[in-house]
Amino acid sequence: MIGRRTFLGQTLVIGALGLARRLWAQGAAFLRFRPLPAPVAVPLADMLAQWRSRQFVADAVTLDTAATPNQPIRITGMVVRTGAAGDNTPDRFQAVCLRCPHEGCEIEFVSDPARLPPEVVTEIGHPVTEPVYVCPCHNSTFTAETGERLAGPAPRGLYRFRVTKVSETAVEIGEVEEDLLLFV
Ligand code: FES
Repeated sequence: MIGRRTFLGQTLVIGALGLARRLWAQGAAFLRFRPLPAPVAVPLADMLAQWRSRQFVADAVTLDTAATPNQPIRITGMVVRTGAAGDNTPDRFQAVCLRCPHEGCEIEFVSDPARLPPEVVTEIGHPVTEPVYVCPCHNSTFTAETGERLAGPAPRGLYRFRVTKVSETAVEIGEVEEDLLLFV
């Protein structure tokens, strides 16, 4: 039989976990995005299966509050189909900037997690079954599903783009996270 204290303790832990999950979801939802001057179109035919990825380059302009304001810049990104084949809703595609938020090295997409070096898996702390991004400089890792940080010295998850439309022929990347336009 569970004592009253144990029951209360378990209730508090479950409540705290639920709150943490909600706060994380809100954090992701509250990232601020800005339209790209011209959306980037990636052929849908290249992304028909789950976890298919395609690199792209987006033109953008730094914010007027950036250290070098209102400057045209080019950002290299990667878009991945995270949802199953046939589901072409925009949120089934995740697009991120390939620049590591730690010290700016270019991260790599690892579609087969079995290829991860053992020391990287050890740092993550649990088995990895889905594709991830890995930074070759100091081994920060990020999920391909959301860009969230898994392990390593990176101070945050990957900077994101937003897929704004999927037509019959193209995946359209139309917005970029504002914070990226401060620091690139
Ligand atoms: S630059 Fe990526 S982990 Fe340091």
